[in-house]
Amino acid sequence: MPTTIRSFAKINIGLRIGPRRDDGYHELRTLYQTIALHDLIKIDVARGTGIEIHCNDSRVPRDNSNTCWRVAEKILRALKARSKVRITIEKKLPVQGGLGAASSNAVATMLGMERAFKRRLAPEERLRIASEVGSDLPLFLVGGTVLGIGRGEQVYAVDDLPSFPCVIATPDVGVSTPAAFAAWDKRQPKLTSPRASARMDSFSQSVYQWLNGSSFSPTGVPGKGWDRAEALLLDLVRTGMENDFESVVFPLYPAVRQVKRMLEREGAKYVSLSGSGSSVYGLFAGRQDAARAVKTLNQADVRAQVTSTLPRARYWKDIFPAKIRR
Ligand code: C5P
Repeated sequence: MPTTIRSFAKINIGLRIGPRRDDGYHELRTLYQTIALHDLIKIDVARGTGIEIHCNDSRVPRDNSNTCWRVAEKILRALKARSKVRITIEKKLPVQGGLGAASSNAVATMLGMERAFKRRLAPEERLRIASEVGSDLPLFLVGGTVLGIGRGEQVYAVDDLPSFPCVIATPDVGVSTPAAFAAWDKRQPKLTSPRASARMDSFSQSVYQWLNGSSFSPTGVPGKGWDRAEALLLDLVRTGMENDFESVVFPLYPAVRQVKRMLEREGAKYVSLSGSGSSVYGLFAGRQDAARAVKTLNQADVRAQVTSTLPRARYWKDIFPAKIRR
């Protein structure tokens, strides 16, 4: 029996890029949030050897450059298993969309292989393999609202945000993450190290401020007539948390900036590029407003869909579906 796993996407609520390190990576601060949009990953193990990748999207590589392939190879080694592993990716998420799809697919492969082999890796072994394969994998071992530091691979579960209606809009361009980092390096004046570290610290302060504000506390009583989701989103705007990649991606791809403006006009309370794009998301106070925004975007020929942010408990509950709802 094959094992099927939902491979959920993420958005970045704020992303600050720090100095380029000696290992070539950039120091990062970001708040990751999982969302309900997902690909489906099917794992079959059989007699024999070798790793096979099948996918309904021709842009997805089938060789050892695929993150799923690289995780599968490491899991076989860690479990000292000799089998043929067939990974089928039913791709619904955008490729190069900034939603972490390839990273999430790889973590889904890890969880699916554990189940298929009826063996579990130690948590530190899971984390080691995930961070070796990419900076955006470990967040998917936590789910919900996750603080990412280091090169993004050091992850901390923070108090979960409630589920917000969310629109994901993906302009028809693919943005390469290494190219976006290179463009950032070119544009930035070399900051002195106290200034660079003050920029990083101020991000952590914004996150602290937001997640400890009066609107956040689930037991707190928001002001009369206030909707909690709306109050939280207004607080988020007030913190000034932004994604640094916008300053390099928008000038390169004006269509992406345009989509941000459309979401703002459609009443999203908070709008941002996710990762290095090209997806832009809008968080809404109500589901109907979000659905209306999708309609307007689709009419303007922009690929957009409505979803919601996915808190940690639901993330883990929904990963292994009893029955797949498509
Ligand atoms: O870790 P991952 O393989 O996803 O990173 C892809 C590329 O993105 C890296 O090779 C590097 O060029 C860039 N990157 C970076 N700083 C980070 C994360 C990624 O410069 N924090």
